[in-house]
Formats: sequence, C-alpha cells, structure tokens
Amino acid sequence: MKIIRCKDYDEMSAIAGKIMVDQVKEKPDSILGLATGSTPIGMYKKMIEAYKNGEVSFKNVHTFNLDEYYKIEKTNDQSYYYFMNENLFSHIDIDKNNIDIPNGQADDYQAECERYEKAMEESAGIDIQVLGVGVNGHIGFNEPEELLYEKTHLTGLTQSTIEANSRFFDSIDLVPTSALTMGMGSIMKAKKILVLISGKSKHDVVTKILGDRMSTQTPVTLLKGHHDVTVIVDDEAYNG
Ligand code: GLP
Repeated sequence: MKIIRCKDYDEMSAIAGKIMVDQVKEKPDSILGLATGSTPIGMYKKMIEAYKNGEVSFKNVHTFNLDEYYKIEKTNDQSYYYFMNENLFSHIDIDKNNIDIPNGQADDYQAECERYEKAMEESAGIDIQVLGVGVNGHIGFNEPEELLYEKTHLTGLTQSTIEANSRFFDSIDLVPTSALTMGMGSIMKAKKILVLISGKSKHDVVTKILGDRMSTQTPVTLLKGHHDVTVIVDDEAYNG
C-alpha cells in the first residue's frame, strides 16, 4: 500500500482530485468506481473544477458506484443516487447512460445484485475505485463480520454505521437498515484503488491499516492483498 500523508481535508481532496483527473486525461474512456459519504465530496469538487476549467471531459467515462441504501427511492435526498447527481454528475458532461448505481428501489434485490455484478463483469473492468472508510473499517457497506461476501449483495447495517450515518437524516429511525453493496471481490477486482481517510474518528482504522494484520473484522485491511492501493490520510486521521 502506498500511503500519502497530507495536512488536512482540503489537501487530501486536492491530491485525490488530481489523481482522478489525470486518470481521465490519460484514458478518456476510463471506468471509475465511485463512493459516497462526506469524505469524497471535496475530491468531487476538484473534478468539477477541472471540468469547468476545460482541463478534462468526462464524456466517455463510465461509472459504477459502490453501494446504495435498500430500500430507498431515487428521489429521496438521502439516496446515493441523489447524492451522486448533486455532488458530481449534474455538474460534469458525463453521459447519463454511462452511470450505474445499484438500484435501491428494485423489488427483487437478488435480481438487482446479479444484474449489477454482471454489468461490472461485462465491462472492461474498473480502472480506479475510490473508497471512503467507515469508523469501524467498513468499505462500501461490507461491515465487519467473520465471513464477507465476494459479490454484490444485500446487507444489514451495523448499529455503529446506522449511528454514524444518522447525522445526514432528520432522525435515526429514518436511516435505512439495509443496503446493496459491491462485495469484497467486486472491489478487489479494480485495477487501482484509492482510499481517502480524514478526521480523528478514523484514527483507529488508520492504525489498523498501518499494522501488518488483515482481518474481516476491519474490512479495509484486506486491501493489503491488492497490488495497487493508494491511501491518502490527513494529519488528524494519522495522529488521532
Ligand atoms: C457510508 C458509505 C461508505 C463510506 C462511509 C464513510 O457508510 N457506505 O462508502 O465510506 O459511509 O462515510 P464518511 O466519508 O461520511 O465518513
């Protein structure tokens, strides 16, 4: 794993934004794996800025998103579908037909998971997967468990994740308790992985990433088995 240390959230976002923009400049038809949560918002702002400055076009890019709550309507402002439109897609020239996000309003979740996994398999493969990380070390919604899933699946959220994500909802009762998420295998198939970590609350997770153990109880540590992972960590996350 390559660790890039930086001063703060803004610096992390600038470095990550540049990596994403360079990726698309080098390969205009890149397949990007995208993430939600508060962590990548600054990176998305940098990507939008680069597009608005005429530095890059996202016209031929395809995207897959890590996860989506289940069940949730696309029009719900807490859905990841809504989040991606608000924070990135509606500000750049991406072709809307090239965007894929697990459908959180599908009636048949099993069929939806199979469709999503197949769409990724039939694509040329994700060139770079962006990841945030939960305070408990989850990636996507692969929560700490003895046995993790390989492929896209329906999962229950742990109480700690429900609590962490409740800050975006009017009340904790409104936080969905399930989600559709790429599995660990789907994530690990990406050619490159970019992990963004900011803030004191992620310090424990950073300590585990820097250690030499891997555990399904801290899913992000399994990325140590991938050959091309860059982790960008700010001082608060690094020092605690
Ligand atoms: C959610 C998402 C994750 C994200 C995590 C951390 O649970 N499913 O993909 O990494 O939250 O969010 P934040 O970046 O807001 O700390």
